[in-house]
Amino acid sequence: MPLPERIVLVGPMGAGKSTIGRLLARELGYRFIDSDRLIEERCGANIPWIFDVEGESGFRTRESNILEELSHETGAVIATGGGAVMREENHACLRRGALIVYLKTSVDQQFERTRRDRNRPLLQQEDPRAVLQDLFDRRNPIYSRLADIVMMTDKKSPRLVVRQLLNRI
Ligand code: S3P
Repeated sequence: MPLPERIVLVGPMGAGKSTIGRLLARELGYRFIDSDRLIEERCGANIPWIFDVEGESGFRTRESNILEELSHETGAVIATGGGAVMREENHACLRRGALIVYLKTSVDQQFERTRRDRNRPLLQQEDPRAVLQDLFDRRNPIYSRLADIVMMTDKKSPRLVVRQLLNRI
């Protein structure tokens, strides 16, 4: 089977999309693109600043524009932000010619991996675990519906996840 022209990683904060995406891209000889980092580069500001100044909806608009642009990339592994699936209009961009991989992760594991992080505005709340649970409940069905491959990442090293993915691509 020929390789897909683009592999798009979806899943929650703390799923390991960036780490796994970078390793997977290296294995495939693809470029790695992180949509959040690209948004920050283009804007010249970090995500907390964008949320602060433009609100979540401003960030989502920037995200939709970047996803549209990235849907024309070939030979790339793309890590998306956890909320990239929330706008229905993004789905066609995410799907276009791509293999979509959902990196599925328990809320406990998401919490462990994000608890010291200050770059995720949605988690700067009193009870970030409850936020992660709520987001999981709302988003898990959407990630699952969009995905061609669902891969659990709990208690696995990024290398093991990549090896398992390479067997399924
Ligand atoms: C978000 C996830 C973040 C980033 C933004 C919003 C979300 O990306 O896009 O903070 O809505 O889940 P990561 O999933 O890469 O942390």
